[in-house]
Amino acid sequence: SKVTVVGAGNVGATCANVMAFKEVADEIVLLDIKQGVSEGKALDMMQTAALLGFDSKVIGVTNDYAKTAGSDVVVITSGIPRKPGMTREELIGVNAGIVKSVAENVLAHSPNAIIICVSNPMDTMTYLIKKATNLPKNRIIGMGGALDSSRFKCYLSMALDANPNEVEGVVIGGHGDTTMIPLTRFATYKGIPASQLLDTETLNKVAADTMVGGATLTGLLGTSAWYAPGAAAAYVVESIIHDQKKLVPCSVYLEGEYGESDICIGVPVILGRTGWEKIVDFKLNEEEKAAFAKSATAVHKTNSVLKE
Ligand code: NAI
Repeated sequence: SKVTVVGAGNVGATCANVMAFKEVADEIVLLDIKQGVSEGKALDMMQTAALLGFDSKVIGVTNDYAKTAGSDVVVITSGIPRKPGMTREELIGVNAGIVKSVAENVLAHSPNAIIICVSNPMDTMTYLIKKATNLPKNRIIGMGGALDSSRFKCYLSMALDANPNEVEGVVIGGHGDTTMIPLTRFATYKGIPASQLLDTETLNKVAADTMVGGATLTGLLGTSAWYAPGAAAAYVVESIIHDQKKLVPCSVYLEGEYGESDICIGVPVILGRTGWEKIVDFKLNEEEKAAFAKSATAVHKTNSVLKE
């Protein structure tokens, strides 16, 4: 199998590195516009193969889309990240042009690829890819919920003093500080509702920390985070390439599901070899439904900037 990652910056390179280490694909192509950067990072990764014991091949190219031909999955991370104090929505002006041209270049050489969009504002960039390419909806997936849910599980595990792998938590809605919805009612530790193990105040703090999880790191790092974002993108690709049928919240094109249409926004989906294969209908209560509708309104508003 073959996976291309466009954008060899912090997130793209980390994603390629995790995929190589985990042998998610036989061949991983890393592409960037900056001369030599992809080649250098790919070679650096290949020099870890004998240390880490993997045999995936990583190839770096400078804007040479011919080398990406026949990719099964393409991850788009190209574009600018936010700096401290910025929202993801403020990136739209620069990133929309980049994401649209990258998607077109990629599909010219890999017409059957499944596209994973990481570039921000992610829900709007995913929607832009849907509108610009008209690909079947199942082959367009925005990565945000995988990261936000992993952050939710991280904060939950810290509050519970538990192993993060024994905690479940799902974040739906838009991939923004104020639009994401950590579903505290569905969070569990070894099958026990987290609400029975933590007081309301603590659980609400876990949700609030999750929502600003990215901003907290941007404040510490001076730029946007990459280890968890890169690993989350690799996790999505792995579930697709290995047909794992994992339930992962992803931004997908809705046609009435969760009460919304003509929008890409985070909902729980099953990921397999054909892309997102099914939307799973969590039975939301009235409060959660209202939060989702509000989140969708905000995403629609950002999408409307595309038309200006
Ligand atoms: P970065 O600046 O480290 O890397 C971006 C790379 O894209 C650079 O190497 C740049 O040369 C390249 N690039 C720019 N235009 C290009 C083009 N036309 N073709 C190919 N490559 C091009 O940024 P970072 O931190 O890797 O973030 C990438 C994007 O991912 C940002 O938009 C960021 O906001 C977003 N992001 C999304 C997350 C999510 O959960 N969806 C999480 C973290 C970041």
